[in-house]
Amino acid sequence: MEFSEAVKKRRSIRDFDERPIDKAVLKAIVEEAQWAPSWVNSQPWKVYIATGDTLKAIKKDHLAKVQAGEGGNSDFKRAPRESFGAFPLKNMQTLGTHLGTYLNNDFTEFNAAQGRLYRCGAAVYITIPKGSPEWAIMDMGGFEQTLMLSAASRGIDSIPAYEFVKFPEMVRSYLGIPDDELVAIGVGLGYASDIAMNGYRSPRVPLDEMLVIKE
Ligand SMILES: Cc1cc2nc3c(=O)[nH]c(=O)nc-3n(C[C@H](O)[C@H](O)[C@H](O)COP(=O)(O)O)c2cc1C
Repeated sequence: MEFSEAVKKRRSIRDFDERPIDKAVLKAIVEEAQWAPSWVNSQPWKVYIATGDTLKAIKKDHLAKVQAGEGGNSDFKRAPRESFGAFPLKNMQTLGTHLGTYLNNDFTEFNAAQGRLYRCGAAVYITIPKGSPEWAIMDMGGFEQTLMLSAASRGIDSIPAYEFVKFPEMVRSYLGIPDDELVAIGVGLGYASDIAMNGYRSPRVPLDEMLVIKE
């Protein structure tokens, strides 16, 4: 698959068909993501993947917590939308409206998808050491995107989601993640189901609103 095709093929999928992903393929995707750049080649990331019975148990506990109305307590704290700045805030507002229109302003299925962790075939958790500088967070983001692009190039869909990491203690206990690692983000992998919501394509800002080239 051409690189630009993989880039465009990757988009957040919110309902998978629960089919598992071959372990060798998971390993190949992570190995490819390892080629992401990092500060002084620090490679701050570690990866924990839940599949099979472990994933089943995580999904069950996650849903129970969501249904009990338990609030999230992610290692990276949730930030108010305004704190992102005026330009990203405007984009978030546009995105909300855009998705809302697509869903006829009915978020029932969307919210249900979060609670069931999108019925993903594998949940990939990326950690970095506690107390990491901002540069390591940047490096981790590059790793995360490379991982999703590698998946896309192999016909595997994905979603990066806060939803995966909102109960980090639960995830830690299932996967044996030590206390000195931050559960930074989770990526769901799998094969998209044919649910209507998966047809959504998020827009991007016009290039001339975010790009300056000076000669
Ligand atoms: C760090 C991060 C956290 C996210 N968390 C969620 C989430 O909890 N639920 C969700 O539905 N989408 C989540 N997303 C997906 C974004 O909404 C999505 O990337 C964005 O709308 C752009 O759409 P696209 O990924 O389809 O291109 C998250 C994305 C990122 C990068």
